Amino acid sequence: MSSAIELRVTDTHHDLVIQRPAGGVSLQGRIRIPGDKSISHRALMLGALAQGETIIRGLLLGEDPRSTAECFRAMGAEISELNTEEVRVKGIGLGNLIEPVDVLNAGNSGTTLRLMLGILASHPDRFFTVTGDSSLRSRPMSRVVKPLQQMGAQIWGRKQNSLAPLAIQGQALKPIHYHSPIASAQVKSCILLAGLMTDGQTTVTEPALSRDHSERMLRAFGADLTVDPETNSVTVTGQAKLTGQTVIVPGDISSAAFWLVAGAIVPDSDLTIENVGINPTRTGVLEILERMGADITIENSREVAGEPVADLRVRHSKLKACEISGNVIPRLIDEIPILAVAAVFAEGTTIVKDAEELRVKESDRITVMATQLNQMGASVRELPDGMEITGGTALKGTEVDSHTDHRIAMSLAIAALNAAGTTTIHRAEAAAISYPDFTATLQQAIAR
Ligand code: S3P
Repeated sequence: MSSAIELRVTDTHHDLVIQRPAGGVSLQGRIRIPGDKSISHRALMLGALAQGETIIRGLLLGEDPRSTAECFRAMGAEISELNTEEVRVKGIGLGNLIEPVDVLNAGNSGTTLRLMLGILASHPDRFFTVTGDSSLRSRPMSRVVKPLQQMGAQIWGRKQNSLAPLAIQGQALKPIHYHSPIASAQVKSCILLAGLMTDGQTTVTEPALSRDHSERMLRAFGADLTVDPETNSVTVTGQAKLTGQTVIVPGDISSAAFWLVAGAIVPDSDLTIENVGINPTRTGVLEILERMGADITIENSREVAGEPVADLRVRHSKLKACEISGNVIPRLIDEIPILAVAAVFAEGTTIVKDAEELRVKESDRITVMATQLNQMGASVRELPDGMEITGGTALKGTEVDSHTDHRIAMSLAIAALNAAGTTTIHRAEAAAISYPDFTATLQQAIAR
């Protein structure tokens, strides 16, 4: 059955070709997923800033964490060759980053660039330039530049300092209480990281709770951090001292989401995804799939190095439409493309609202998902802040494009499992940003 999935590689791009046999496919067995992307970035960054050695097990080997590692190596941190077993980071101590001799390149990674800006802006007497790929150079940076400027940061860039490439003259900053207009873990983390080097108390309040990996890890590394859950506020007291730790990275629920939806929509599937991080700030996808009627069981729940982890078993079931809006959005923002695929196979009309953030991700995920799924025969209508998806239309194989967005490439591959005939996903190499083994795992799961 594995010949149903084929990767055609040219000099510049990969086409993922999915040929659904007349009898269909089903997904079976136990699979493991790569390490959590958010936690991998943070482990590398805090490891680089800490005093002493940090050991990272289960690091994501995707292109995004590689960008983070390269940036911090260029500023003096010694980071061993990246692998999933054990990465050793010799930290250089907070405040000791070396002025890099060249431009720091964050590649495709918004988390690398936005979190790093808080660190760079608060390192006095050093000058930094940062850039990224064409997607990242078009994504808004004012959401972090503005609060950093309120702290006294000096940052310059295109379009009134809102687009990379950016130049940063490090400064001693002053603490602020920032009321963020958006629930964004990148904004929150950027300000908290700037607060590490800033005398006094730096507080971020957000309108809804976003992922809290920074808070958990900063505490574990010894930062003085308080959280007020009533107001979604976090306060860090500088100057902090960070001490190297052992970080065990759980599997990324955002990567598990592709298999959760695949198992739910592909007939006769019964799939167990091992070692998935189920931090409550990330489990919106589980709640929504449950509301849609998916058959998912949480097995072997445990806590590993300060993060909750479990195995997730999913079996095929009939799905129904639901509304996805409000406070759950930041808790599943990266899973909306794959939830849109689930909605295509659900009975009724699913509404996604309050998700305008999707327009400024690695691609405009509202427009791209709507156009690509509609090309396959789905009925998706764009809303300014979401989508309206009417389920039950049969999908047919055709040519679609990832628009170089990793989560779009993988979402379309899962949709193709239920599409008649052959689907070709252009520029599927984007998956390697967060999930280099995606195609291999897909082949494994349908070959059993
Ligand atoms: C991330 C935060 C989210 C998410 C991104 C990773 C993080 O972005 O979409 O993939 O690691 O902090 P926003 O903070 O922009 O919502």
